[in-house]
Formats: sequence, structure tokens, C-alpha cells
Amino acid sequence: MLKNKHILVTGATSGIGYATACDLLDAGAQVIAVGRSQPRLAELSARSEGRAKTLAFDLTRFAEYRETFAGLPALDGVVCSAGIADSNPLRFFSLEKYQRLIDINQTAPIALVAELARAGKLRGGTSIVLLASILGTRMGRPGAAAYATSKAALTGFAKVAALELAGKLVRVNCLLPGMVDTELAAGQTEVSQEARQADMQRYPLGKRYAKVEEVVAAIRFLLSSESSFMTGQELVMDGGFCLP
Ligand SMILES: NC(=O)c1ccc[n+]([C@@H]2O[C@H](COP(=O)([O-])OP(=O)(O)OC[C@H]3O[C@@H](n4cnc5c(N)ncnc54)[C@H](OP(=O)(O)O)[C@@H]3O)[C@@H](O)[C@H]2O)c1
Repeated sequence: MLKNKHILVTGATSGIGYATACDLLDAGAQVIAVGRSQPRLAELSARSEGRAKTLAFDLTRFAEYRETFAGLPALDGVVCSAGIADSNPLRFFSLEKYQRLIDINQTAPIALVAELARAGKLRGGTSIVLLASILGTRMGRPGAAAYATSKAALTGFAKVAALELAGKLVRVNCLLPGMVDTELAAGQTEVSQEARQADMQRYPLGKRYAKVEEVVAAIRFLLSSESSFMTGQELVMDGGFCLP
């Protein structure tokens, strides 16, 4: 279903974005992979049989968006997965750290979608998937002020973009995972293995975090025509964690 479709993936060098890029390549898609890690981009190129175009680009370089994305073909899908996490309790609030996270998690996907729309890179039928989180709209977590704010903002943006782009038959949806087993989650060094195991017990479905492949399956669904009448929505994927 995604064979020969042109799909841009940010955060394609790690975790969910990398797994998504691999999955799309396996499905025969043409992938535009965006990230900074050259070795990971080279890996994607090597397994792509010529179907991956890699863009080594720091998504906070907003002034370079127009030039960077000008050469892209018209797209059928966009997955915004690039993101960073935070752990900054309010008493240690740093405007610099806050702004950095907001730039990557919130401003970059919004600026990217705006630039692609402006440049006429979104075909009729294009599906845009924004990686949000249950944090922000469904729950909070001490220390995650910037992260929760950035992810809640994406759900608001998706509703506006969905309406603005519906006339061109472009869909915009958010995926809201709970914790997923990725480098981002495992790398939270302030969380001990014991605390991580205890946290998993709070997920009703299987007492575990989501597997990356489960998240990728949801992204594939949102990209495909299987979800052709869904737009502006928030798809929660948390093993029942947020159920009352
Ligand atoms: N993992 C979870 O538990 C979880 C749960 C809910 C939502 N999410 C969301 O899902 C998305 C992916 O998470 P993940 O776990 O796959 O993260 P990850 O493994 O840490 O990957 C993050 C990606 O973001 C890219 N990135 C970071 N800063 C960038 C910048 N300035 N410019 C360009 N690329 C940048 C990184 O690429 P380079 O280092 O190569 O630049 C990397 O590819 C994130 O938006 C995250 O908030 C994750």
C-alpha cells in the first residue's frame, strides 16, 4: 500500500523514526530520512536499494528550511518523530533548556509542515503523522514541563493544520504513545532499572512499555489509506495506562 510512496521521516536516525524508516523501506516506499547522525543515515542508505534520500540536517536551523527542503519531490507522507526528552523540575527552570526543547519538539514539526505546504510539496492524499505523547494532554509528570507543553502543542497544531489542509485532502494526525522501549526512554539515566520495572507495572496491558514495532504499526496505519477519513485526531497508544 505504501510501495513507491514518497515519505519524509524526521528523527530517522534513532528509535521510532529509524524503525519507521526501515519499515517503510521494507514496504517499498521511497524514504527521505532526516537526522544528524551520519552513520545511521548511511545505514539507511545501505539497506534502501537506492530508495532512501538522506538529509543530514539539524531541524533547529529554521532559517535554512526553505533551501534544505526545496529539492524534495512531492510527498505522500510525513512522519515527524525527531524529539528530545527533559527532566527539569520547575525550581531549576532554565529558559535556555526550555527553548531548546520547544525548538526541536514543537517549532520544528510546525515549521516543517508549514514549509512543505508553502512549497507545494504535499500531494492530495498526503498523510502527516506527528509524534506527540500522552504527556501534556492526558497526564503530567514532574520535571517534564517543556516536554509536556511541546507535545500538547502538537495536538493543538494538528487540529488547525487538519482544517487548513483538508481542502487539499491532506490529513494531519497525532500519535500519543505512553512509554516506548527506545534509546530515548532507556537513556533516561536518572531513572533506575528498578524504577523502570516498577513503572511498567502501571501499564494494564501486559505490564510493559510499548514495543517500537507496535508504534510503527500505528504510524503505518495513519500513513496509509486505511485511515483515509481520519484527520486532526489523537491516537492514544498506551496499553490502557491513561484509562480512568
Ligand atoms: N520513546 C518513548 O517512550 C516515547 C513516548 C512518547 C512519545 N515519544 C516521541 O516519539 C518521538 C521519537 O522518540 P524516540 O524514542 O524514537 O527518540 P530517540 O530514539 O531519542 O530519537 C530521537 C531522534 O530525534 C532526532 N533529533 C533530535 N534532535 C534533533 C535535531 N536538533 N535535529 C534533527 N534531528 C534531531 C535524533 O536524530 P540525531 O541525533 O541523528 O540528530 C533522533 O533521530 C519523539 O518525538 C518522542 O518525544 C517517545
